[in-house]
Amino acid sequence: MSDAPAPPRLRDLPLDDRPAALGLSDVQIAALRAGLSPAQADRMIENAIGVFGLPLGVAQHFVVNGRAIAGVPMAIEEASVVAACSYAAKLARASGGFTAGSSAPIMIGQVQLLDVPDVEAARARIAAEADALISWLNEDNPSTRSRHVRALHLETRILAGDPPMLIVYLLYDCGDAMGANAVNTACEALAPRLEALTEGRANLRILSNLSDRRLAWATCTIRTDLLATRTDATLPPEAIAQRIVEASLFAERDPYRAATHNKGIMNGIDAVVIATGNDWRAVEAAAHAYAARDGRYTALATWRTDAAGNLVGRIELPLAVGIVGGATRVHPAAQVALALLGVKTARELAEVIACVGLAQNFAALRALAMEGIQQGHMALHARQVAIAAGAQGEWVERIAAQLVAERNIRLERAQALLKQQTPL
Ligand code: MEV
Repeated sequence: MSDAPAPPRLRDLPLDDRPAALGLSDVQIAALRAGLSPAQADRMIENAIGVFGLPLGVAQHFVVNGRAIAGVPMAIEEASVVAACSYAAKLARASGGFTAGSSAPIMIGQVQLLDVPDVEAARARIAAEADALISWLNEDNPSTRSRHVRALHLETRILAGDPPMLIVYLLYDCGDAMGANAVNTACEALAPRLEALTEGRANLRILSNLSDRRLAWATCTIRTDLLATRTDATLPPEAIAQRIVEASLFAERDPYRAATHNKGIMNGIDAVVIATGNDWRAVEAAAHAYAARDGRYTALATWRTDAAGNLVGRIELPLAVGIVGGATRVHPAAQVALALLGVKTARELAEVIACVGLAQNFAALRALAMEGIQQGHMALHARQVAIAAGAQGEWVERIAAQLVAERNIRLERAQALLKQQTPL
């Protein structure tokens, strides 16, 4: 269990005071406020016309492998996600937080070879030359030689059919980079040599987004007594734990439920991936392909009770994220996000992100198995309506609470309540 003092409750602080409360320096705060400039955007993509903003929040209470994290940055437009994530992390923290791990950051590149006269003979020639090709990529070829990433080895697969195809898999250790650029460059560099070896024709030469050799996993225990709820005091916490296990089993057995279960996980994962300037489409593609790896789409995170009756959650998924290169380097807010997380390697970042996915899943299942998710959404919606009606300060919460109590979350009612301005 971490001895770190409980972090300040960010939502009790004014917006402007929150970054400093998290220990960010003036320079970092300025970078966060400035965000990406239109000029930077113009250097990143074509035909840029501006910059698209997203709310950046911070989930609190995360302890990962014994390390308390100041704040987990999340870029997301959906209300409730950040609060739900913090809530789950707080419950997990009471049992020591999350335990996470990851594999080496290995990505796969593919070269598709067609019109190969004898695929078996070609396969044997590639196997015989594999070591020489790998050292050419790592030592001799200027466009692929790098201190940061390394080609590891080659594998081949024959795809039967018409036409038959010989596919070369190039395995790369991407270190702290996401690695797409390095792997794509290597595939393109290798293709002419593979054509010569196989007497075939190289067609596609590209990274695979099924990054199933770059996995991250996490577990946590949630004490059952912490599941007790004020909403339904008659329901024993063991029954709540049981409902969460039943919700997990539903997703494990039914792809229609699994897609939504995993969407909730990706609410958390994408938010951190975006905040750290990583490629969330790559992470999404990998997660869903991995969820269907056994031929049936299933849950990425599962929940069971242990011998003491506590809930134990586990998640495992591919997480191809980097802390160098790409938008992580260019985007000023991404740099601040990485500093907040305090991660030193891409693997560490992937491990924290896996924990966030597990936390998000727990929070969603708990809410769904209990009051449903609309109640929390209603409270946030009511706040937004109160603010839209012109409420300020303590009146935001007062009017929002009254709108929820009346089950009448409408602008006109908020305006009427605001006009009265009498203690409610
Ligand atoms: C909504 O964005 C996400 C959930 O639907 C996830 C789930 O059902 O597990 C609440």
